[in-house]
Amino acid sequence: MRIFAISDLHTDFVENRRLVEEIPKRSYKDDVLIVAGDIADQIETIKRTLSVLRASFKMVFFTPGNHELWVRGETYDSIEKLSRILKLCDSLDVQHSPRRVENAWVVPLFSWYDSAFDTEGDDGAELDGWADFHFCKWPREIGEKFEYFVELNRPNITSYDGPVISFSHFLPRIELLPSRDYLRFKSLPRVAGCSLIERQIRELKSIIHVFGHSHINRDCVLDGVRYVQNALSYPRERFVTGLALKEILDLSKERSPEQGAEASSHDVLLS
Ligand SMILES: [Fe+2]
Ligand SMILES: [Fe+2]
Repeated sequence: MRIFAISDLHTDFVENRRLVEEIPKRSYKDDVLIVAGDIADQIETIKRTLSVLRASFKMVFFTPGNHELWVRGETYDSIEKLSRILKLCDSLDVQHSPRRVENAWVVPLFSWYDSAFDTEGDDGAELDGWADFHFCKWPREIGEKFEYFVELNRPNITSYDGPVISFSHFLPRIELLPSRDYLRFKSLPRVAGCSLIERQIRELKSIIHVFGHSHINRDCVLDGVRYVQNALSYPRERFVTGLALKEILDLSKERSPEQGAEASSHDVLLS
């Protein structure tokens, strides 16, 4: 059984929807797919995408990103939207909480970003148009969103009887972003991640952590944990055509995190 990772499918773009629908139905029937958030904001689009993926993979894991929590024109808030999406996952047999996968465990982590993640203290001048500030609606009682979301994970931060592969939508470490000079959107570090996720990864003793959101792919080992982003991203951001599902682990072959980070030849490109 192999474990694949993808994030930021953004299937509200017709090009991306087509790529997901072209994933072969038979090639992955014994495999697991981790989807690290940002499928779309419309529930119907999320449902269609997860259904297509579920038809191809033995197991699909998902955690919502920021786009899923937009409530444009809805009467309910982003927390109610989260609960509707989790119910949708249950109805499609898509996993949003820890599950055993052969001898390993896959552990989804809820998350949100904390502006203090930006250690260089950007003034946030570019953030006026940041869509989450306009399209998410939060009940006042939840307080700081990044604390609220990591607290939801608390019951699942425990010791597991096997290697742990965790995943979140947002970044757990600032080193996973390039330096600001190389960022097109200079304020990204303020809305990219949260160091409390990293604390939970350490408590879980994860061997691999998959994340999304920045649309900047990574595969590296930091302090003994392999961090992987494999984002499909927006059509205008892609340098290659096609959808590359990244194999992060083959449970029939034990690999160290360092060996896994070098295993890019196992990636599968669908075009
Ligand atoms: Fe995204
Ligand atoms: Fe995102």
